[in-house]
Amino acid sequence: MDAAARIPAGIAAATDYEPHARERMDPAAWAYLCGGAGDEITLRANREAWDALRLLPRVLRPLAGGSADVELLGRRWASPLLVAPMAHQRLAHPDGEAATALAAAAQGAGMVLSAQASQRLEDVAALVRDEPGRGPLWFQLYLQRERAHTLELVRRAEAAGFEALVLTVDAPTSGARDRERRANFSLPPGIRAVNLRPQPPLPDGADFFEQVVAQAPTWDDVAWLRSAATLPLLLKGVLHPADAREALAQGAAGLIVSNHGGRTLDTAVSTARALPRIADTLGGALPLLVDGGMRRGTDVLKALALGAQAVLLGRPVLHALATAGALGVAHVLRLVRDELEIAMALCGCRTLADIGPELIDGDS
Ligand code: FNR
Ligand code: LAC
Repeated sequence: MDAAARIPAGIAAATDYEPHARERMDPAAWAYLCGGAGDEITLRANREAWDALRLLPRVLRPLAGGSADVELLGRRWASPLLVAPMAHQRLAHPDGEAATALAAAAQGAGMVLSAQASQRLEDVAALVRDEPGRGPLWFQLYLQRERAHTLELVRRAEAAGFEALVLTVDAPTSGARDRERRANFSLPPGIRAVNLRPQPPLPDGADFFEQVVAQAPTWDDVAWLRSAATLPLLLKGVLHPADAREALAQGAAGLIVSNHGGRTLDTAVSTARALPRIADTLGGALPLLVDGGMRRGTDVLKALALGAQAVLLGRPVLHALATAGALGVAHVLRLVRDELEIAMALCGCRTLADIGPELIDGDS
């Protein structure tokens, strides 16, 4: 790990890491990391939607013995924060996913390791698996072209000690990521998705849809994965209430309401707007998580008020990783969690169960 890492002076909030990360990163890698699809309307909408919600706090309620503990998939954890699955973390820092996982574990936050991680899933899991204070340790999957290859990943994740699988369903193809293309981004030598088998080229002349279909998951694949895997299966990237109902019917263990941080379909609805509709539709039948644009403890509190049990943080974690390795990631997770606890106290909430929709001003 990076023993020379320092937290720069003057960092008070998660977004304070962004300029420091930008200074340290190659401009093309920066475009990959921060960019969204198209005109980045959804990327901005995610942030704006959390900002636009106004809190209606309660006062004078007892707070003694309060905590931000959460129950997820049948276990209690110290924090409702998880690190979102993000590919190629060695682009941000040579310590990569290992640093992120260690930092998350030290903060009691969860870690979702990307299928496109730049370090071996076994190595990352082994670093944190036996840490008693850690949060959930989940593995994100993209469907591979061959079911045998998907199954191999599932078996490896099970054997390595991951506790749930997260199938990402909103990215059958990459979005039109203009910022990334303008910057002419490509992975530098030495950084690759080391856990995946190289994909064989498709037959010459395969058109766009043939290429997409080769790895686009369908509900049949969800059913197959559920029967093939021993771990609970969550779906990431659900926005439509009808898909949430189908996921429930198909036995998903949970849903992550997400638009991939605005990186796939531009102009897709913000997650702050999609979440309450899905929560209404499901009526508590499935655990809900959400990500996209959350930067503040108040954003987390709003997400929990709108029906999520836990939230995932994306880019701020990479900004902190790029700036100060594991130390930065631990710090950024700590900042957001501290803000959440302050927001809970100021809203009269002793536990996460006290955070409900009545804390959101209906006109906002
Ligand atoms: C991602 N995201 C993502 N999601 C996923 O399911 N698998 C992946 O490999 C990746 N890779 C990835 C790389 C980078 C650089 C980013 C920024 C994002 C999406 C991620 O899990 C999450 O949905 C969003 O990043 C959340 O939004 P914020 O917090 O970044 O605004
Ligand atoms: C991304 C892919 C890896 O968003 O999910 O970059």
